[in-house]
Amino acid sequence: LEKALTLLYNRYKDRLTSLPKEKGWFTETLYLYQGFWLESERVTSAVTVMASQDGFQAQPTDIYLATLQKSGTTWIKALAFAIVNRTTYKTNSLSTHPLQIMNPHRCVPFVETEALFPTYVNGHSPRLFSTHMPYTSLPQSILDSRCRVVYTCRNPKDVLVSLFHYANRLRDKSLGLMTFKEAFEMFRKGLIPFGPYWDHVKGYYMAALERPSEILFLTYEDMQKDTVNNVKRLAEFLGYPFTEEEAAEGEVHKIVKLCSFETLKEVNKHGMVGAGFPNDVFFRNGKIGDWTNHLTNEMSQILDQLTKEKFDGLDISF
Ligand code: A3P
Repeated sequence: LEKALTLLYNRYKDRLTSLPKEKGWFTETLYLYQGFWLESERVTSAVTVMASQDGFQAQPTDIYLATLQKSGTTWIKALAFAIVNRTTYKTNSLSTHPLQIMNPHRCVPFVETEALFPTYVNGHSPRLFSTHMPYTSLPQSILDSRCRVVYTCRNPKDVLVSLFHYANRLRDKSLGLMTFKEAFEMFRKGLIPFGPYWDHVKGYYMAALERPSEILFLTYEDMQKDTVNNVKRLAEFLGYPFTEEEAAEGEVHKIVKLCSFETLKEVNKHGMVGAGFPNDVFFRNGKIGDWTNHLTNEMSQILDQLTKEKFDGLDISF
């Protein structure tokens, strides 16, 4: 992968270096590409986005799970994978279920990462992919194929806190650790990978309004508050509704438990997803409202105000 990424980097280097720049969270630089800030050389980055726009081929039956980082990507990957593959991977033989053995990120590849490389074969049908790309930057073939897209967003203050901890674990050692104040200042200016936060969310929200049968808009908070009903809704949207028989057998609950924070955290205590990504980095505390332990009143008010302005007239609540 490292080698392939270097090749890509060389291919897109000229395009990359002509773009506006800011300081990054994981690497030295964020680049402004098509209105969004992307990291440079990391796995899901400006060059991999460019490469997927140039080469990724969607199929109409594909399913895409779109998120901004730290909004519940890992959780929604686990849920969608378990729902769609439940006849192949039965929830009553849990010990052999892939989610009991490997990280959800190994079960559902990113469009702008694993799916780029010809050695990668997604054998399951329908193909399940995830992406952090903003709606307007999705490869044209995904838009043209009118594939189903599930977008999950999360309260911006919890995204900031989650991203802060995640970046401090994963960023290049040479950059040192970030302070929370620094992270906050970058976040409010929209300077996060695949941000501004508000534009990312709004892009998918508007698309879901226009194409409700193709794009489902979920929030991490709703998923937490009423997991069972949202999992049913997700299954229906994906074209895999639970039958009455399954409901009677407690299938929904089994899937909810299999994909719960506690279960996945335990399974992913050790090992790596891939180079530089320990399995456990995706499971921190998995709660709503950890921002109260990090943001000052003033910081909170600033983000609330920004969110109010940017989401004016939209029905988004966390
Ligand atoms: P916290 O850092 O607030 O704990 P992503 O998967 O998009 O990277 O998001 C990671 C966030 O989702 C982290 O939030 C993580 O703990 C939480 N998370 C991971 N798996 C989860 C699950 N199964 N249920 C609920 N939250 C989960």
